[in-house]
Amino acid sequence: MERIKVFVVEDDPEKRSSIVDTLSNVEYIYVEGEASSSEEALEMVDQVNPNVMLIGAYVPGDGYKLAEKISSEYSWISIIIVEEELKEETMRKAIFVGAKDVLIYPFTPSKLVDSIYQSFQMEKKKQVVQKDKTSVIRQKSQQGKVITVFSTKGGVGKTFISTNLAVSLAQLKGEKVVLVDLDLDFGNVALSLNIIPRYTIIDVINDIRNLDQDLMKGYLVSHQSGIKVLAANVQPQKADFINAEHIEVIIKVLQSAFDYVVIDMPTRFYDPVVPAFQEADLLMLVTTPEVAAIRNIKACMVSLNGLNYPRQKIRLLLNKAEPRGDIKTKDVETTLDQTISGILPAEHKLVTSSLNKGVPVVLLYPRSKISRSFQNLVRRVVENGLGEKKQTSSVHKASS
Ligand SMILES: Nc1ncnc2c1ncn2[C@@H]1O[C@H](COP(=O)(O)OP(=O)(O)O)[C@@H](O)[C@H]1O
Ligand SMILES: [Mg+2]
Repeated sequence: MERIKVFVVEDDPEKRSSIVDTLSNVEYIYVEGEASSSEEALEMVDQVNPNVMLIGAYVPGDGYKLAEKISSEYSWISIIIVEEELKEETMRKAIFVGAKDVLIYPFTPSKLVDSIYQSFQMEKKKQVVQKDKTSVIRQKSQQGKVITVFSTKGGVGKTFISTNLAVSLAQLKGEKVVLVDLDLDFGNVALSLNIIPRYTIIDVINDIRNLDQDLMKGYLVSHQSGIKVLAANVQPQKADFINAEHIEVIIKVLQSAFDYVVIDMPTRFYDPVVPAFQEADLLMLVTTPEVAAIRNIKACMVSLNGLNYPRQKIRLLLNKAEPRGDIKTKDVETTLDQTISGILPAEHKLVTSSLNKGVPVVLLYPRSKISRSFQNLVRRVVENGLGEKKQTSSVHKASS
């Protein structure tokens, strides 16, 4: 079996020696270095050159910060965080700093060994994928912009917004736009556009090692509006093996081929979709003027803040706004301590008719209030947000 070199960073001597002792009994694992602080670890890491790093969450200098630094500078090292208890935030935090796993101390020897082995294998697989990918990804210096549409609540309009936003971008700016359905379990982008995908994201993943722009294009479906769609799979059980590395590669390849990559997200915040947050140039958080939705998005913003997610990427969108509703725009802004970047009115009749026809509302009723809101979204939020000063020509020709 292959040798796995491990670097243990833990300041509690008892914990550290218990880890080291356990590992000394495993034939193929070698503890190549021990450190008791972030500072010491950073000094030693080049020399130790580990495959896997075990990092105590509470080491001086903060284990999570150390993990973040290591994963950005030494992306090939697999990181395992050693925590004291599993809190709600623990897993998210760990994933965000690039860790492969979290172990809660005390753990059994087999858990420790298993985690090291799995993390090492995961990294190896990723390297195979990326070795093939780097050439493709680096070809184009001008990478497309990623717009991720998210909310931790269902039914607020993520799919509605991502679809109509993608179409508006293509229509108003005449640029190449791809819409990605990352709602891996329940994706309904294809359905809402009335297209029957021949291929889905599962096919792309099956081909991930050979993936390049050309191959990718074969898996996309064209929509009459001019956008391309990467559909979700129709069999949810197949989504289980999709991981963050797959999604990262997919986003990057799409960025190299399109001006905009618009991503429709699931309500779940889980590992495979993390790259959609990390690669996002703009993260559109969607809420509706309802107490439950606002509370939900508040919790989501607190989480993102706790993860040090760059606030300047976040845009808050208020969907299904009612002019005479109980909850006013100002109330939402005050509660969330965030200005609303875009407001989309509730238009039940038009939206229902658009759904029934399978034609996005911005194509079906281009002069309606809601379609104008999408045009504003493109101009004010997307263009300003991405710092684009390019003059936009109105190539909007759809008829109502
Ligand atoms: N501005 C709006 N006005 C009226 N209905 C809307 C609006 N936005 C979304 N809807 C409807 O609300 C429902 C949920 O929207 P959807 O985009 O599927 O939400 P999510 O993707 O967040 O679960 C859909 O039937 C959609 O057509
Ligand atoms: Mg949806």
